[in-house]
Amino acid sequence: MQNNKHNQLSYIDQGQGTPILFIHGYPLSKKLWEEQIEGLSSQFRCIAPDLRGYGQSALLAAQVEKQHFSMDMFAEDCANLLTDLGIREPVVVTGLSMGGYISLAFYRLYPNRVRSLVLTATRAGADSLEAQNNRDKAVDTVTHSGSRAIFEAMLPKLISPSAYANKPELVKRVEGIMDEATHEGIVASLLAMKTRPDSTLLLPNITCPSLIIHGADDQIIPITEAQSMHNSIPEAELVIIEKAGHLPNLEQPDTYNQVLQRFLRSL
Ligand code: MLT
Repeated sequence: MQNNKHNQLSYIDQGQGTPILFIHGYPLSKKLWEEQIEGLSSQFRCIAPDLRGYGQSALLAAQVEKQHFSMDMFAEDCANLLTDLGIREPVVVTGLSMGGYISLAFYRLYPNRVRSLVLTATRAGADSLEAQNNRDKAVDTVTHSGSRAIFEAMLPKLISPSAYANKPELVKRVEGIMDEATHEGIVASLLAMKTRPDSTLLLPNITCPSLIIHGADDQIIPITEAQSMHNSIPEAELVIIEKAGHLPNLEQPDTYNQVLQRFLRSL
């Protein structure tokens, strides 16, 4: 897969056809979407950036200096990338977890640029007070003990318990993706997630076709979050993928791709 760089943002741009923007979760990278790009780029133009601070994208010095990080900042980066690639038509926006928070910010900022939404393993609500405190603790841990301490606690929750026990190569792969994240990127995302606005009130106003996908064994975001988004978005479909945790596209790539392809064909 060819890796491109523009404005310090590293991205994959592969295939032709209706553009699909793939937005990864925390603390991952565009590598999260390898199977989807492989499976869909014969029919669609697949664009997958490394968000700033992840993979091969660096945070901009001005962002670090101001310490002002937000979902809107990541969404603007994605919109600017599409513009720079000459993509003016509405795109399919596909986000996983934090990528889903960014997808909702993208829809709020640029509704006319969204052809449809695919929200995977995510939620619409803001952080509770407890979750915000946990973000602060995580920032503290990264700053004083390094990101490994965070990853060790998070890794078993990212993958379903059965895959964690039985698929060491998958565990290693996710660990390898996490290891590429920079300290600054992790802190930026934690602060951005902590202060993200509640998108619940946006949901009834989403007018594009939307697909919500959730792993049956997700240990990070409860399935009830997917169900409540499904109840609130007028034209939404919900698919639960069995034998998958927080990363259903990695754990069950064939099923995930089939679900996505069927949805895309129906647009
Ligand atoms: C993610 O997977 O992107 C994050 O775990 C989401 C979160 O921490 O809220």
